[in-house]
Amino acid sequence: MDVLRIRGGVPLSGVVSASGSKNAALPMMASCLLAEGPTILERVPNLVDVQTLGQLLTDLGCAVRTSQDGTLSIEVVEESSSEAEYELVRKMRASVCVLGPLLAKRGFARVSLPGGCQIGHRPIDLHLQGLSALGADIEIRNGSVVASAQKLRGARVTMSGPFGSSVTGTCNVMSAATLAHGKTSIEGAAQEPEVVALAEFLNAMGAKIEGAGTETIEIEGVEGLRGTEFTIIPDRIEAATLLIAGAITRGSLAVDDLCVSHLEAVLEVLSDIGVAVEATSSSSVRVDATGNSFRPLRVSAVPYPGVPTDVQAQLMAFLSTIRGQSSIRDQVFPDRFIHCAELNRMGASIQQFGNRAVIRGVDRLQGTHVMASDLRASAALVLAGLVAQGETVVRRIYHLDRGYEVLESKLRCVGADIERMDAADCMKPVQTEMRHSA
Ligand code: EPZ
Repeated sequence: MDVLRIRGGVPLSGVVSASGSKNAALPMMASCLLAEGPTILERVPNLVDVQTLGQLLTDLGCAVRTSQDGTLSIEVVEESSSEAEYELVRKMRASVCVLGPLLAKRGFARVSLPGGCQIGHRPIDLHLQGLSALGADIEIRNGSVVASAQKLRGARVTMSGPFGSSVTGTCNVMSAATLAHGKTSIEGAAQEPEVVALAEFLNAMGAKIEGAGTETIEIEGVEGLRGTEFTIIPDRIEAATLLIAGAITRGSLAVDDLCVSHLEAVLEVLSDIGVAVEATSSSSVRVDATGNSFRPLRVSAVPYPGVPTDVQAQLMAFLSTIRGQSSIRDQVFPDRFIHCAELNRMGASIQQFGNRAVIRGVDRLQGTHVMASDLRASAALVLAGLVAQGETVVRRIYHLDRGYEVLESKLRCVGADIERMDAADCMKPVQTEMRHSA
């Protein structure tokens, strides 16, 4: 099993590029089940989650072809199987995105219920209520959602739950409604850029969707959709992670190929902390954290356009290195704090109170062996390792590989001392001297 070994203390400098968005690519790939003819997706990140969904789509009768340049071609070639088995769904919750498209196109879907998850309780009741409102018969049978409908019909659906609107729930219902009879109105819709991208993608396939990016999305059902070509939007979470990498190492780093307007809340947080942030164009941001003095901050992770929950752990790593008391509340996933314990093992001082973590900044984090628990927690540990004194070994990086394309190569290109290696080669004791002291 691979680990990442990081020798901390190098301020990052230079330019690095963001990849295409995982969370935009996955629902788009699932929506290819709706179309006749091939779809070509460009700028698809090469990630384990993308491969897992590719495998599931293959099982569901699609011809899926990937090429080295990030192009993915998907075409439905036969429709006999509409079942997503536990083996694949357990690897990736986003597999649930096939539910709406299968139901709308094939009239039947059996999708294993996604189980628990390290970031907390993750029900899919809103997905199921939405699809039921469109006329589907839904039951839970032997651990699977079994859904059927002769023909879906448009309806008023709500997607807002106790912790905000469901992103993949909105994607599922919006995709299904494209082929429903009549008009669907999704109220309390998630407004994340990935939802907007999916609506644009479906419209390019011939759907009639308006209002994506607002609270209400209206969909006029059409008879059929056809394959199209589409370029995936930049990954705002990866871009934010890279920007925080520049800031936490007190470096000066530019991130290109991102979308500035998707990152406003994160840029504001970095700026409030005291990082010099400059958007040099609509697709490039430079952060400069050399010689600045930083301020602690109170942050709340909320649905878009607020600070994303997917950046909460990375910000926590950064705030751990800033003198004074900061706090982070996660209003989307109130239990998403497993990374606190591992950061504390690196010398951070973080205490959790319900959905809020209080962070007392320390002068220095220290390298040690740490265990990643989920995707963004892994990223936070890597960031902490980049600034920690001595050597950090991040284990269970298969979480990281689900959502970050060649992260260690990107970081190495801008100066980080980071390498991937076999866990067995890392069993020797961790060195604690500072390798890159000034
Ligand atoms: C998406 O998950 C993302 N995943 C997550 O990114 C992200 O953290 C999350 O949205 C919030 O932004 C993908 O896009 C593939 P939700 P999703 O349904 O859609 C509750 C990452 O690290 N809820 O928007 O599954 C839920 O428990 C991942 O890349 C219900 O109550 O999340 C949560 O508290 C992790 N009932 C809140 O809503 C439901 O039916 C938001 O969840 C569905 C959700």
